[in-house]
Amino acid sequence: MHKPSSGRDYLVALLLASSVTVFLGFYLFIRRGYLFTAPSSVDMLYVPNKAIAGAGVILIAFVFLLGPIVRYFDRFDKWLGYRKEIGIVGTFLLLAHGTITYFYLPLKSPRAELDLDSPDLLAGIIGIAILTFLFVISFKKAIDILGAKKWWFLQRWGIRVAIFLTVVHVVGLKWEGWWKWITVGGTQTPALTNPLMVPASLIAGLFLLWVIVVRLYEVFFIYDNLGFAGNEASQTPESKMRGRRFFIGSFWTLVILYIILFTRFVLW
Ligand code: HEM
Repeated sequence: MHKPSSGRDYLVALLLASSVTVFLGFYLFIRRGYLFTAPSSVDMLYVPNKAIAGAGVILIAFVFLLGPIVRYFDRFDKWLGYRKEIGIVGTFLLLAHGTITYFYLPLKSPRAELDLDSPDLLAGIIGIAILTFLFVISFKKAIDILGAKKWWFLQRWGIRVAIFLTVVHVVGLKWEGWWKWITVGGTQTPALTNPLMVPASLIAGLFLLWVIVVRLYEVFFIYDNLGFAGNEASQTPESKMRGRRFFIGSFWTLVILYIILFTRFVLW
């Protein structure tokens, strides 16, 4: 039931987290033209904060994806062993994002102007509170106190609610900008050297939405009871095959969507 963490598990999680963060940081460096050395109108941590937030979303979404991956593809079974650590590292990235946004972006997100009651910001705050709670109860002692059944229920539904709130937060804050980028592109400014490159938040957001589609497919077409009983043991060889087919088909659809986005201002 409780999975003790080894140094190796954390090493894998940290390697994954740093690869995604460094990739997004490098991507944003090219898109924006700077990482820390921002123009005077932009906070020093503005761009690193975007890389951290995007990486946090990708990690939490990946944690949510690991269930289907392991259920459909036997050779990835051992990845389940890293799920907890990847979730914890993702939670810390998002805690860093919330802290940086609140305390260290006086130019772009002045504290006085942060409307913490607005649905999209509130969703981020409650989302990070839930993820932190899941981290706190990830220790063995919490299972002893709560009991295995309640503990599983909290972990299963906690991550689902956190994912839902992440969608509200990210789509709520970014939708207008994404739509504007897709329809008209962007204008070059000293703070944005290559505006026609895909926004990093859209790269992370699309991955998150794909993961949700894969999970929803399971809920409606694989599980007998919409997954409320909390057990995938009822999976038959046929449903496993169907799930795998959907996973692979939707994955290639995701790849095509990325290709369309990345060539948006090159080909059309
Ligand atoms: C589950 C928790 C959270 C997740 C998954 C999350 C994720 C994200 C992501 C992916 C972005 C887009 C970054 C970009 O523009 O590339 C973002 C933006 C933002 N987040 Fe969060 N966030 C969370 C918590 C918070 C918290 C606690 C706060 C408030 C203190 C916050 C405030 C903001 C603000 C103000 C932006 C807009 C920044 C901008 O447009 O540059 N977020 N968030």
